[in-house]
Amino acid sequence: KPAQFDTDASSRAVDVECFCKVIIVILTSVCWRSHDIKTVFWQGGVSGGYQVLLLDEDQGWLLVGGKDHIYLLSPDSLDLPTRTIYWPAAREHVEHCRLAGKSLETDCANFVRLLQPFNKTHVYACGTGAFHPQCTYLHLGHNTEEPSFMLSPLLESGRGKCPFSPREPFTARLTDGELYAGTSVDFMGANAAIFRTSLWGSSQHYIRTEAYDQNWLNEPEFVGSFSIPDTHSPDDDKVYFFFKERAVEAGQWDKRVYSRVARVCKNDVGGKRSLINRWTTFLKARLVCSVPGPSGVDTQFDELEDIFVLETKDPQNPTIYGVFSTSSSIFRGSAVCVFSMASIRAAFNGPFAHKEGPDYRWVEYKGRIPYPRPGTCPSETYDALHKSTKDFPDEVVSFMRQHQLMWEPVLPLGGRPVLTKTNAAYMLKRVVVDRVDAEEGPYDVLHLGTDDGKVVKAVSVVKDNWDTEEIILEELNVFQKSNESLSPPQQQLYVSSELGVAQLGLQRCELYGTDCSECCLARDPYCSWDGQTCSRFFPTSKRRARRQDVKYGDPWSQCPVTEDDSDSVEVKVVYGVEGNSSFLECFPRSPRAEIRWTVQRTDSQQQPVSQTQDSREVKMLAC
Ligand SMILES: *[C@@H]1O[C@H](CO)[C@@H](O)[C@H](O)[C@H]1NC(C)=O
Ligand SMILES: *[C@@H]1O[C@H](CO)[C@@H](O)[C@H](O)[C@H]1NC(C)=O
Ligand SMILES: *[C@@H]1O[C@H](CO)[C@@H](O)[C@H](O)[C@H]1NC(C)=O
Repeated sequence: KPAQFDTDASSRAVDVECFCKVIIVILTSVCWRSHDIKTVFWQGGVSGGYQVLLLDEDQGWLLVGGKDHIYLLSPDSLDLPTRTIYWPAAREHVEHCRLAGKSLETDCANFVRLLQPFNKTHVYACGTGAFHPQCTYLHLGHNTEEPSFMLSPLLESGRGKCPFSPREPFTARLTDGELYAGTSVDFMGANAAIFRTSLWGSSQHYIRTEAYDQNWLNEPEFVGSFSIPDTHSPDDDKVYFFFKERAVEAGQWDKRVYSRVARVCKNDVGGKRSLINRWTTFLKARLVCSVPGPSGVDTQFDELEDIFVLETKDPQNPTIYGVFSTSSSIFRGSAVCVFSMASIRAAFNGPFAHKEGPDYRWVEYKGRIPYPRPGTCPSETYDALHKSTKDFPDEVVSFMRQHQLMWEPVLPLGGRPVLTKTNAAYMLKRVVVDRVDAEEGPYDVLHLGTDDGKVVKAVSVVKDNWDTEEIILEELNVFQKSNESLSPPQQQLYVSSELGVAQLGLQRCELYGTDCSECCLARDPYCSWDGQTCSRFFPTSKRRARRQDVKYGDPWSQCPVTEDDSDSVEVKVVYGVEGNSSFLECFPRSPRAEIRWTVQRTDSQQQPVSQTQDSREVKMLAC
């Protein structure tokens, strides 16, 4: 019989002269469609420099802070006209900024850098005010058809709340009417500290870390801050700061940068005789994200880029995700590490680091630790005697003056990153995480912003043998060459950069097609095959036909191939001849695709074909 070859251009077969038996090769074709994302862009603003987003999905608004402007957008119609507030810097500050040698275009304006919810109707907003930071309240009506959108004319000083420079990294968190911020408070950006400013009343009282003391903070670059309860008692509540800084413990001449987690008690009011208006509970520990090397030399990802606190059912124990990068000039890479609150608390409950004097090395502190243990909040949980940090014994306060650093670092869960990207075209810069219910349990889907305007969607899967596998689900180009910030995912993901704001769906299951095997091979926890098509997975829907296999992505187990299935599985049949070879080719459309060939002799079962090195050549064996 004449050979019956597949005419598809993507598979070729050699000419054959005669057959004795027929070999059928079935190709399950899973291919990567170029993802045509329906992204809604907002580029309507005039100002540029969009650095801060605040989303309230319940009330249906999205605030964007830009240069001299705040914009109010509707998440449902990002492309429609917006409402705008013009909020410039005072003319005298612009003039002063210009005379100090700064640029009118890129420095001497009011770059809005902080938007934090204050109460049900008001948002607290701060801007750089042409190197003269300023803050005020923004009124957003509650649950009305047309939200009011007005700035209070009463300006407050932004010192200790917002940086002077539009580019200085900083962090701020408003909780219970108090603003916690890691920022500098001077024109040169040299005096950086962790502040708490009370917004109640008009006094604007603040407490801070000690100025110009490198043991407290040493050229810090702040990344994030979060309020996390420690026990059932609100008196033990703490605010955690994540940052990187020059590592004092690495040696005087070593310019190494380490990542840190620091914490303060929310009820810290400073000391009475010493540490007046200074934190008496400030402690910090090193955050480590490294890959163990074969010869005991670890690859360190020392520089924290972003942090995301994933809420769980237990408010005291969120899961902490961090993006880190290498500081090495020869080796470029970034990694995502996960930390538990238990390991962070263990470092703070462990030994203190100690340095006897300028000519001594850092060692583990082995001396007596005063009571109450330095770093504990004044609360009834541990000790009813000290009702305020002002009641702490002098011994505790003077211990705190000398010991801010913990001896043990915080290691990531599993002892290594959940995802690494080395020598890639891009560096990871931002992370937000969405915990997604899937067939076999929840998966944490990472949405990672890159330094070249991409959003990478990835998941780390723990196999039955405890190996982990990192899976890149999608790589989307959102902005051309720009740094982005991401808002925490709810129904949508918002990505902002200097160019605008984009809205992305968290899942695009329909792009995986109607085919069970394509859907399964995609291994996207958001998606499952519902019998007809690849659609959003809902744990509540009890569809018998639902198919999903995030862990192994094995369509052979999920999507059995039968005669009747010929519609749902793309089967390519290639005939071959004994003793000769055939070239089987497929261009996968998905980075997740795994091409499998099976060989079927006349009256035997389909068997997997063992793959040669180029994965495509199959020796025809049977005759
Ligand atoms: C929210 O705070 C603003 C500013 O202090 C105040 O004027 C307003 O009355 C507060 N609203 C509510 C509902 O508490
Ligand atoms: C992104 O930010 C880094 C600093 O964090 C800066 O060096 C770089 O130029 C920025 N890239 C773009 C395209 O703006
Ligand atoms: C195998 O294929 C080659 C062409 O690639 C052909 O020249 C040769 O005759 C074939 N051999 C058999 C046994 O069919």
